[in-house]
Amino acid sequence: MTFRGAEVPAEPGQSVAAALVAAGIPDWRTTRKQGRPRGLFCGIGVCFDCLITIDGARAERACLVPAADGMRLGDALESGDDDRDGAGTHAKEDGDAADA
Ligand code: FES
Repeated sequence: MTFRGAEVPAEPGQSVAAALVAAGIPDWRTTRKQGRPRGLFCGIGVCFDCLITIDGARAERACLVPAADGMRLGDALESGDDDRDGAGTHAKEDGDAADA
């Protein structure tokens, strides 16, 4: 896989998020209002902190998508506004589960 153009190795069975963290990439997006870094938090598809663009599909949850050869990973917002930041799962202004 590649993330922002850099090679990211992945083992069979790893999620995209697990592969990124294993490659030393702990965060891959920032919050809209305060620009805080976000990456893997709950790891089970609940918090939406791990949003990422995968092969042009934005706002995918990296913790739920199995890593696969050839995936192109990028910023969650790279193709438009991130209207899923927080996605109704957070009551906090900045949509930050990690601030809870
Ligand atoms: S880490 Fe919480 S939804 Fe992916």
